[in-house]
This record gives sequence, structure tokens and C-alpha cells, in this order.
Amino acid sequence: MYQDGVCRITSRLFSKSVMCEDINYAEASDDEKAVLFELYCKLVNYFGPSVGFELSVVCCPADMAEYRQMLAIAPQGDAFDEIRKEYSDMLVGQVAKSRYERRICLTYTIEADNVKQARSRLGQIDSDVVGHFRALMVTARPMDGYERLALLHKCLHLEERRKFRFNWDSLNGTGLSSKDYIAPSSFFFKDGRYFRTGASFGAVSFLQIRATKLYDTLLNSVLELEGSQIVSIHAKALDQNAALKAVKRKLSDLDKAKIDEQKRAVRSGFDMDILPPDLVTFGREAQKLLEDLQNHDEKMFMVTILIVHMASSRQKLENLVYSADGITNTQNCDLIRLDYQQEQGFLSALPIGINQVEIQRGLTTSGTAIFLPFRACEVFQKGGVYYGLNATTGRMILADRKKLKCPNGVVLGTPGSGKSFSCKREAADVYLHTDDDLLFLDPEHEYLSLCRQLSGQIIRLAPDSGDYINPLDVDLTVDTGENPLLMKADFIMSFCELILSASQGGLKPIEKSVIDRCIPKVYREYLKKPRPERMPVLGDLYQCLRSQEEGQAQELATALELYVSGSLSYLNHQTNVNINNRVVCYDISALGQNLKKPGMLTVQNNIWQRTTVNRYAGKTTRIYLDEFHLLLKEPQTAAYTAEIYKRFRKWNGIPTALTQNVKDLLDSPEIENILENSDFILMLNQAASDRNILAQRLGISPQELTHITNSGAGEGLLFFGDKIIPFIDKFPTDTKLYQVMTTKPADLAE
Ligand SMILES: Nc1ncnc2c1ncn2[C@@H]1O[C@H](COP(=O)(O)OP(=O)(O)O)[C@@H](O)[C@H]1O
Ligand SMILES: [Mg+2]
Repeated sequence: MYQDGVCRITSRLFSKSVMCEDINYAEASDDEKAVLFELYCKLVNYFGPSVGFELSVVCCPADMAEYRQMLAIAPQGDAFDEIRKEYSDMLVGQVAKSRYERRICLTYTIEADNVKQARSRLGQIDSDVVGHFRALMVTARPMDGYERLALLHKCLHLEERRKFRFNWDSLNGTGLSSKDYIAPSSFFFKDGRYFRTGASFGAVSFLQIRATKLYDTLLNSVLELEGSQIVSIHAKALDQNAALKAVKRKLSDLDKAKIDEQKRAVRSGFDMDILPPDLVTFGREAQKLLEDLQNHDEKMFMVTILIVHMASSRQKLENLVYSADGITNTQNCDLIRLDYQQEQGFLSALPIGINQVEIQRGLTTSGTAIFLPFRACEVFQKGGVYYGLNATTGRMILADRKKLKCPNGVVLGTPGSGKSFSCKREAADVYLHTDDDLLFLDPEHEYLSLCRQLSGQIIRLAPDSGDYINPLDVDLTVDTGENPLLMKADFIMSFCELILSASQGGLKPIEKSVIDRCIPKVYREYLKKPRPERMPVLGDLYQCLRSQEEGQAQELATALELYVSGSLSYLNHQTNVNINNRVVCYDISALGQNLKKPGMLTVQNNIWQRTTVNRYAGKTTRIYLDEFHLLLKEPQTAAYTAEIYKRFRKWNGIPTALTQNVKDLLDSPEIENILENSDFILMLNQAASDRNILAQRLGISPQELTHITNSGAGEGLLFFGDKIIPFIDKFPTDTKLYQVMTTKPADLAE
């Protein structure tokens, strides 16, 4: 093996591999499947007679020790280490549910005089193959020498957990070869029916195809089996002329046989059209094959399909092979043990690119491509947030929204489907392993216990509340490069507009000038000596307006009076809560009709200001807007939210909107911007009518729709970038975190 991934198999044979990721196939719509199949045919057709290729799918037991290490959240010596440990243990418990994982790789083999020549040809094939995979939306990349050795090591230790330790320097001058690092402790092939490597047992079989029509489910159903196995499909194209000649020869053989039969029929005195049925079928098949080869851009491949099963004991091995045989039988195929060829079979099944088994079958391009290895895509990003298990494959979903082009998110689902819960879970996860700030806009009074658990600040906004936030707050601690007063002036204008607009229809130019003149005056004292207790409040703005000469100023002041000394004076106080806490929950459930608009605007301004400051501190701010349809009802708050969705991305802000109301969402003019600017959609159970609308809008296949039809809490579809992943999250209920996140009355009573 060379460092760049070129493997010298014999003196003239060289191979190289690409590793590819899985994509959604099993649950794709029929149209999508047809397109993917066609594209995969193109890839198969790319390989000419001089390049042999081998598609390998390796199913190996997950390395739990590695996962445990990856999912551990380091203790930080604060009050949260207990839930950190509980949470990482929960993650390890979830990952352990999917015991086997799959690797797909494609290896191609060429003949060349020397490495240099091989390298340049293989390099060309590399980029062509990756390009073909890209058309399929499959991420594929050439494997380097280390990766190929690591994969071979895995294949040779399927049932034995041994770490692969290797570096290229260790080969220098020691007389060792890379084989010494991947070989198992022993091989034993003497028994013709099975073999042993180290402490484990293995058996190699080949797939005999009896069926005349193959289905794309064949390979996937074999792979469905839980167990250690390697499936390898070797294929090599025949020269097109040779293939045509062979088929034509076959046809004339058949014709000859037919004539013989007819002669015999005439001689024996019965009807000449009565032919043996096999002869008729073969004739038709051969005719079709000839036509496919001549006109339909099909090639002829010689294909060998090998399946290796491995188990820790002989009995387990036989059981595994027996079940696999049962599965292949349902598809009109047989799994036949390679008696006395176990060694050649095993070697050929490894992703090296050499085939020593001479049992071959001719298949056309589409016959070869029918074994396409794709099932369902996965998202597993190290350091990402846990969103449940993949409902198709059972593997854990770890996704990092920061890696998306646009991390904005939307959570959709009927009431009780688990929208709020999923956001609390994400927030808790983020809290425990990053230092992002978390802000909740909570109209349902349900984030409090989670917030308390995370030592966050709860701000209850209500006319009778003692928690105050001051709309006039400015933050001078971070130099944002902009004049803070200019930004504040913008907000004060819209604030005045909001509280006046109902009666007067917006601010007039004179009024704007008056306010603009007052703002520096109001802040003058504070700016001289910026201490929190000197922060101006609405009352100061009121005084300043009163002292202006214009009649309009007096009118403005009078309108503001209601919010300064009148019954809505709740907002006329200096901030007395810690709005800079890492976790802030704005509880707006009791804000009341009159204060709703100015209150929400104040909160949104607060969030905006916080995000601005965080941006300059290099910190991410995550904002959860629950019961989002409430925000869409008022034009001012709706506009503000749309703005958040458009602009936060550049500001390290990650907003998430939760709503049960899909129709409202799609009807509101702002939502255009919200859905289009969201690469993250968590879709839980949907009502029938909403489901159809969403299916159309987002291109969801009928099979995928089943995951959001009458599904339980915490089940649905995750749209992550261009991937769609069905997920199930059954959060363990015996955890401390569950207790603070649940809102089920029964749980709460307990
Ligand atoms: N992933 C989950 N695992 C376990 N229980 C869940 C999950 N999602 C939701 N639940 C339960 O269902 C309840 C209702 O969920 P909730 O998030 O409040 O619904 P929504 O916000 O969609 O109305 C939660 O309080 C919790 O008890
Ligand atoms: Mg909710």
C-alpha cells in the first residue's frame, strides 16, 4: 500500500478506492429512485473493459469505546457536572442501540507497467468516479493509504475489537510491511466450509441469481440482517464487440436448436410451433439482450457477488448464514457456500480489488446497477447536537447547525407532538457542551423549570411583575464600531410609532425630528458617566419632549404619558434583572393585550442588542421563538422576526421558530423569507391537510410522509441542509433533564 492510497496487488495490478456516504434511497419516491438508478447506471457504464471494479459494503459492529470517548462531555467543575454526566450517559445509551454500522466503498483495479503509470491513470479514474457520485448527490472521496489499511484492518477484525495502530514511519528499516499491521493473529482455512481468523469464525458464500428479473431491494434486504458481514460485488466489463459476438453466437445456437426441434416435430408428425418452453424464453431473452447491447447503451459485465459472514462462534455463524440464505431465497436467489474456496473467497471479498473466484455471471449494465448500495443518509457530525435516532437505520443523529449554510430553524407539529420539548433538548445539549447563549421567548410559561435548572434568568413580563427591562437600555461594553445611540434612535422611533400608530397613523417628519433631537439629550448624563443607575428611562424621554416648544412635541409627550405615569407604566423602569445571563427566558404569557406589542418589541430589541454584542465577542446566540404564530399576528413583531431570519446568520445568531399552525405560516407574507432562509426544519406529527401542503412545498416522498402521520411525540422528519432524515427520539423519562423539560400533567404531578 502506498501512502496516497494506490495498492499494488501483483506486479502489474494496481487498485485504488473511494469511500462514499449513504443517501436516501429506500424511502425516495419512485421518480427519484428512477433518476438515481439511471445515474448509477452511468457510473457503472463508465468502467470499460480495462478497469475492474468492486463495490464493497462492510457492516461492522460499532466501536462503543470510541463513541463513549466522542460523546463524553468533559466535566467543568461547576454545578452542572451531574447533568453533564447524565446526558452523556444517555447519549451513549442511545448510540448503543444501533450495533452495526455500514461503510460503502468502491475499488477499481487497472493494469500498468509501473506505479507511476498506475498513479496517473487511477488519479483520472478517481476524479471521474467522484464526479459521477456527485451527480447522484453522494459525497465521495478517494481514500488514502492509511484509510484503506484501516478499512482492511476492520474487515479482518470484524468480530474482534482491536485498535488499528499504524504510521508510515514504522515501516522504515524494520523489514515490516503494511500487511503486518492489518493481519489478524491467525488464519485457518483447512476446513472447507468455513474459516477462522483470530478468535472469530467466518464463511464466504456467493450469490447465485435464479431470478430473471432483479429488484433493487435485493442488496438492501441482505444488508438488513444484523450481523458482521461484507458484501462485495466484482464486475468487469466485456469488450463490447466480444459481448455482441457472444450473444449473436448464442442466438444462432438457439436458432439451430429451434430448427432441430422443428425438424423433429415434423418427423414425428406434430405441430412445428410446439417448442420446449425453455427454448422460447431463452430465445426471447437473448433477443432482448442483443437489442439492449446494440441500442440501449448497455454493456455486458461479468459479475461475482460474494458475501462474508463473521461471528464469534461457529453456531452464531451458521445461524447468520442461514438467515441470510432465507432472505435471498425470497428474492429468487441462493446463497451458496464456496466450498474449499474459503481463502480465495475471503481475499476477494476484501476491498482490495482482486477477484480470485471464477464463478461469474453475465449481467448488463442495469443488471449490475440494480445492486446499488444506498439506503438512507445519516448525519453524524462530531460535536453536534443529538436529535434522536435515524428511524430507518437506527443510527444516532448528531448534527451541528453551525455547519449549515443557514442555521435558521423552524419546528412544525401539532400540539403535543414535542415541538417545545425538542427545542428544550437542543438547548440543554448546547448549554452543556458549548458556550453559546440561549434566549427563550416563552408565551406559554413552560421553559421556567429548564431555565432554573440551568441557573438562567427568568424575566416575567407582566403589568404586575417586579421584573423590569428598560426599553432604553444601551450596551457600551463592546465596541461594535457603530454609534450605539444611532441604533437606539431607530428603535425608539419604531417604539413611538408602535404606541402612537393606532391613533394617528405613523410618525410625521416633524415628530421624527423632535424625537431625534431629544435622544442625545436624554442620554447625555449617562454617556458622561455610564453607570447602570444613570440609565435613562421612558420618563426622561417624556420630560425632554415636554420641554420642547413644538406643539407636536407636546402631543407626543401626552401620548407617551400613558406609558410613563399611566396604567401602562410597566416599561418605565430601570432594568433590575440580569439580562446578560447565559440563559434568559422571557415569559410573556401574562403581558396583557395593551402591553403585548410594546412588550414584545422591547424583548425583540433586547435580543437584537444581545446578539450584536455577542457577535463582537465571537459568541453564538440561539433564540427560540415558541408559539411563533402569535408573533406573526402583529405586523410589527412579524416584520421584526422576518428581519431576524434574514440578518441573524451574519451575526452568529441561530433563531428557531416553533409553530403548530402551518397554514398561517404559509399565508403570512413574511414567511417566504423564513422558510427559504431555514436549512433546519424539524417536522413532527402533522394534520392531514398540513401534511399535503408541506409535502408539495418541500418535496417529501409518500414513504417519508408516514413518519409525520399519526406519529408519537418526538418522531418525525429532520431536514438538515439538503438531507431528509426520519428520526425517533425517545428521551429517557427517568432523567433529571426530562423532569425539567416535560409539561405532561402526569409527569408534573409526580
Ligand atoms: N422526544 C421526546 N421524548 C419523550 N417525551 C417527549 C418527547 N417529546 C415530547 N415528549 C412529551 O410530550 C409532551 C408534549 O410535548 P411538547 O413539546 O410540550 O409539545 P408541543 O410543544 O408540540 O405542543 C412533553 O411534555 C413530553 O412529556
Ligand atoms: Mg409547545
